[in-house]
Amino acid sequence: MSFGDSKAIVSNQEGIHDKLEEIVKKHLSHTFEKPYSQHTLAVFNALDKEVKQFDGEVILDACCGVGQSTRILAKRNPQALVIGVDKSAHRIERNVDEHIDTSLANLPNVRLVRADLNDFYRLVAQANWPIKQHYILYPNPWPKAKHIQRRWHGSAVLPQILAIGERIELRSNWPLYLQEFAKAAEFVGGFETEFKQVIDDEPITPFEAKYRASGQTCFQLVLSRQ
Ligand SMILES: C[S@@+](CC[C@H](N)C(=O)[O-])C[C@H]1O[C@@H](n2cnc3c(N)ncnc32)[C@H](O)[C@@H]1O
Repeated sequence: MSFGDSKAIVSNQEGIHDKLEEIVKKHLSHTFEKPYSQHTLAVFNALDKEVKQFDGEVILDACCGVGQSTRILAKRNPQALVIGVDKSAHRIERNVDEHIDTSLANLPNVRLVRADLNDFYRLVAQANWPIKQHYILYPNPWPKAKHIQRRWHGSAVLPQILAIGERIELRSNWPLYLQEFAKAAEFVGGFETEFKQVIDDEPITPFEAKYRASGQTCFQLVLSRQ
């Protein structure tokens, strides 16, 4: 598929999944006890030292892909430590520094790490990192109804996801994903939510650029802790 030829999401689901409430409540009442992967634990431990010594705000860019948004956020927030996390070594290790706007290359406040967020989120929540802003930009949508538990709001780690950040921003080209996430947050409680179209001049991630080039609308959900 070439750039500008991205297909809109097709799903066999018409509205909020009818099992969403049951799934979220199950995850709220059970502790997620799967052991941490050694790799993610080692990555977390190294960053944990730095975060504890860092005297400023921390921004988490979850599912950062090649880290373009991580770099843009770091440039916009030079006082912050901006941590991009993705499970794909291929994406994290791709040196986009060479291909992007040179003002985004080699920023001192960017950290890009390969880790599994199912583990990383639990470690961050447990360590109570002082995350100011938490981004989840264009998560994999898993549009088939039977895959609801692969979406972040259907996952066992949702309680920890929602525990991280004073402000949580998600973006997607599939509005139902964001509406479901907002509904899941409502079951948990404690957030004000805002849902709108993305109107930034410049796309902040490669997926956003791809969807816009294909004429698709991108949406944004912002949860602010009350
Ligand atoms: C659709 S891509 C979006 C990447 C980037 N945010 C963008 O908009 O260009 C979703 C990303 O989520 C990452 N991802 C999915 N599950 C993950 C997990 N459990 N832990 C860490 N990253 C994950 C994938 O590797 C992929 O890079």
